[in-house]
Amino acid sequence: MWFFKTPEIVFGEDALFYLEELRGQRAFVITDAQLRRLGLVRQVEEHLRRAGMEVHVFDMVEPNPTVDLVRIGADVIRAFNPDWIVAVGGGSVIDAAKAIWVLFERPDLDPLAISPMEPLGLRRRARLVAIPTTSGTGSEATWAIVLTDPRARRKLGVGSRENMPDIAIVDPAMAMDLPPRLTADTGMDALSHALEGYVSTWRNPFSDAMCLHAARLIFAYLPRAYRDGARDPEARAHMHLAATMAGIGFGNAMVGLAHSLGHALGARFDIPHGRAVGLFLPYVIEFNARVAADRYAHLLQAIGRPSPNGPEAAFQLSRTVLELLETLEQPQTVAACGIPRDDFEADLPTLVEYALEDPSTLTNPRSPTAEEVEHLLLYAYEGKMVDF
Ligand SMILES: [Fe+2]
Repeated sequence: MWFFKTPEIVFGEDALFYLEELRGQRAFVITDAQLRRLGLVRQVEEHLRRAGMEVHVFDMVEPNPTVDLVRIGADVIRAFNPDWIVAVGGGSVIDAAKAIWVLFERPDLDPLAISPMEPLGLRRRARLVAIPTTSGTGSEATWAIVLTDPRARRKLGVGSRENMPDIAIVDPAMAMDLPPRLTADTGMDALSHALEGYVSTWRNPFSDAMCLHAARLIFAYLPRAYRDGARDPEARAHMHLAATMAGIGFGNAMVGLAHSLGHALGARFDIPHGRAVGLFLPYVIEFNARVAADRYAHLLQAIGRPSPNGPEAAFQLSRTVLELLETLEQPQTVAACGIPRDDFEADLPTLVEYALEDPSTLTNPRSPTAEEVEHLLLYAYEGKMVDF
């Protein structure tokens, strides 16, 4: 038995107008200060006001939201008492909004206690609309929440099926002016969702379809979106669609070891999520070669590349991902992120521990030992081959 869950999706040019069809009294917009300055939030406010709602904007979200930020947001939202929560931003904003929503409805809960095992009883007070402004995290279509513990320099995955957004408004105009580096970082996150979701042990035929098509779109359009940005609206629109499709895919299938390693490295050395996960992706594909070769062969076929038989398919796909990283001028090794070898080695035991404890490791098609995780990390440091 398996489940497949997705928000109501509103996609396309002018999808933002859908906000005017919402029925309610008060909308609490959650965003960050920079997006507010860029004017994207103002458009959202105007549509909500045209729907007859009173609007309050909370713009304090920063990258890698913390438990403290969630508690601050919860205090503000309780004073405003909305019936709609509207998250406008990238993964950090949408994840923070999910957690603030839970605390609004369940003030008794600690944010870190949000789990699939804890019935939340959400939607008695408010519902959640997510409007992504990057094409990558897929958070608009998943129930996952990543919070950061800055003291332990650790990322913690929480979330319950109930905190999936009710509506995802996926309007390519919201990501049209994304800078190239953010396009590459978030685009590699989306690709990691598609490729890891497709080989995850929790996959199902519905998630497979989402992941395969997202992979097809990302290989075709991410280089164009990176190079030409707003000059290529077709590439932007396809990337915005692909990121949500990959989000639906992995949201129902989970991800794997590239995410576990990326979470650990990203939190210890302050590297953006998509950059950290994307750099581990080729090495993890090779690690999975023996157990997931047929799945990697499907992915190669889907993206129109030759697909050899057996484990060679994994090595071929790994090379294809490395080529994409090169096209996007993204780091292909940990060293290329500017992390000195001594610092990396001093942190190695912690990185191994965090990666092994990460829930994403559970759904990787090959279950690693601590020694294998260490080998993978050392392999990814300079890209020098190790024997799995
Ligand atoms: Fe991700």
